[in-house]
Parts: sequence; structure tokens; C-alpha cells
Amino acid sequence: MSEVATVLFPGSLIGRRVRELGRDLARDYEGRSPVLISVLKGGVVFLADLIRETPLPLRVDFMSVSTYGEASEVSGVVRIVKDLDQDIGGEDVVIVEDIIDTGLTLSYLLSTLRERQPRSIEVCTLLDRSARRIPPLELRYVGFDCPDRFVVGYGLDFRERYRNLPDILAVDDMGALADDPDALVSWLDQEPPRMAGVGG
Ligand code: IMP
Ligand code: MG
Repeated sequence: MSEVATVLFPGSLIGRRVRELGRDLARDYEGRSPVLISVLKGGVVFLADLIRETPLPLRVDFMSVSTYGEASEVSGVVRIVKDLDQDIGGEDVVIVEDIIDTGLTLSYLLSTLRERQPRSIEVCTLLDRSARRIPPLELRYVGFDCPDRFVVGYGLDFRERYRNLPDILAVDDMGALADDPDALVSWLDQEPPRMAGVGG
């Protein structure tokens, strides 16, 4: 198999952790119906699995943001391309993210959404790459701590590829991937281990 990347979090491990996070949410929001918000597109795979592990009368909604290029990289200020469909005033809101890196985008989103006066607002992220964090952020639910390496799979992309990988891979050779963005496509052919035994 390619040496451009190695498995960091196998799909089977992600599945177990997502189940635990769903139980945590169900316990913490018992008797309430939170709105789970995903920021397109990286968080959708995690959201799709998480909601099926969370036995609550929850609702989902989506936002899409676009950066202003380098200005956004230092400020985190983004343009809302697609806003929420519902008013979150008085609601319990959980922002579901794939990875919090610098945290600049999330920090900006949190301040924007707080202006709408939700009852509560918390963050649930699959990966927390705290080494690169800029603004201090309180992340209520974290799947895994993520080393300071570029990752793909389970929603996370490199130039829109690899979101459909069941595992999360750490890229060992960014140069090779930049030269050939398809360098990891052979990973897509693998029989996912979690499917073993299914279907007889
Ligand atoms: P930040 O926290 O504002 O720096 O931006 C985080 C966003 O950048 C995430 O929601 C991802 O969409 C993207 N991102 C950060 N690190 C990675 C990575 O290692 N792989 C793929 N996307 C990433
Ligand atoms: Mg994202």
C-alpha cells in the first residue's frame, strides 16, 4: 500500500467513539431536543453517524461558509453562504465539526450564533488538533486528540477527495499528495474491516 499516508484512526475505532459521544449527548440533553448544526462539508459524515447513535428528538441544520482568502486565515471572519433554515433563539445548539484546527472559523461562528440568543451552545468535534489553536475555545465533546499532521477520510478532504474513506489517514508525504492529489485513491478500494461478517 502507498506510503504517502498511514491509518491514524480506523473506522472501527471511530464507530466506537461516535457511539460513546452519542450516549454522552443523550445523557446531557435528556428531556430536550437540541439542534445539531453541521458546517458543510467536512462534518457531514460524522453528523450522519452521530445522530443515529443519539436517541433524542433532535433536529439537524446546516451552514456553509466561504473564506475571504488570506484575510480569513488571520481573522477567522467568514461569509455565510448558506445560513440555517431555522431560528435558534431559545434553542439548545450543538455545533458538530470534523476537526478544530486553529479554531478561528469556529470562534467567529460561535460569536455570530450567540447573537441569535440560543438557550445554550456547545461544540462537538470528532478531532481536536489543539497544537494549532489560536483563540481559547471550550470544546464540550471531543472524539480524539489529533496530532499536528494533515488528515483525510471520514468527511475530511484533500482538494475534495477522500471524504468517503471509512478510516482517517494521516498524510506522511504532503509533497507527494500535492504533486498527485489522486495518490491515495487505492485506499478507497480496501474492504472496510467493519464490514467483515456482514451479509454472510
Ligand atoms: P480552523 O479551525 O478555522 O483552522 O479550520 C478548520 C477547518 O479546516 C476544518 O473544519 C476542516 O474543514 C479544515 N481542516 C483543518 N485541518 C484539516 C486536515 O488535516 N484535513 C482536512 N481538512 C482540514
Ligand atoms: Mg470544516
